[in-house]
Amino acid sequence: AYRAEDDYDYLFKVVLIGDSGVGKSNLLSRFTRNEFSLESKSTIGVEFATRSVNVDSKVIKAQIWDTAGQERSRCSVRFRICFFKYVESVMDLLALNLVMSLLSKNFLIVTTLKLPQFHITSCRYRAITSAYYRGAVGVLLVYDVTRHATFENAERWLRELRDHTDPNIIVMLIGNKSDLRHLVAVNTEDGKAFAEKESLYFMETSALEAINVENAFAEVLTQIY
Ligand code: GTP
Ligand code: MG
Repeated sequence: AYRAEDDYDYLFKVVLIGDSGVGKSNLLSRFTRNEFSLESKSTIGVEFATRSVNVDSKVIKAQIWDTAGQERSRCSVRFRICFFKYVESVMDLLALNLVMSLLSKNFLIVTTLKLPQFHITSCRYRAITSAYYRGAVGVLLVYDVTRHATFENAERWLRELRDHTDPNIIVMLIGNKSDLRHLVAVNTEDGKAFAEKESLYFMETSALEAINVENAFAEVLTQIY
């Protein structure tokens, strides 16, 4: 039967989280465009891409969100466009930030508020964080198998995640860069054990060699469905 290109049965929002440099943006580009970049820049603001997959003869459209692993970049310290405005509420600020992020990769909204500056920074961080998780039904929590610290931080990411999402959300722990076999600092067994302890799904992937990227996303989407 004929189906329009944008016809789908379900739309699922999936978010990528994990430390800076673990490969979130490359997992996204590998899955949605089959592209990989060795010299990708750290993400600024929030980006997303979509791809439809078939599960059980249903079309599932996955809308995958990606943001910077570093809190500081998430608050947008690097910028090109400056935008001056009196912002009354956090929602205004958030809406403006999202609009600007669509117009430009590097964005910042400079606020001249009645509130002290430090207050604004934390408001913006929290507003973006909760908007990022809002409505998400799946999460890929990514660490880099060659950097143990990124694995240790998975616990922190899990806490942020639990604070912002429904307890039934599907979470997959991903050990990325499995192609760098000689540099491995986190054993598969340790990843698996942590995932079991926290009741997460688990997979090791390589965005570079396109290993398990399909499988990881497909498994999350199937579990949500
Ligand atoms: P932030 O946006 O800063 O949070 O980082 P990120 O998690 O989006 O990382 P990104 O995808 O930008 O990748 C960081 C670096 O790791 C880049 O140089 C990538 O080329 C590299 N990289 C990503 N995935 C892999 C992989 O599977 N294998 C190898 N060898 N390198 C990878
Ligand atoms: Mg990125």
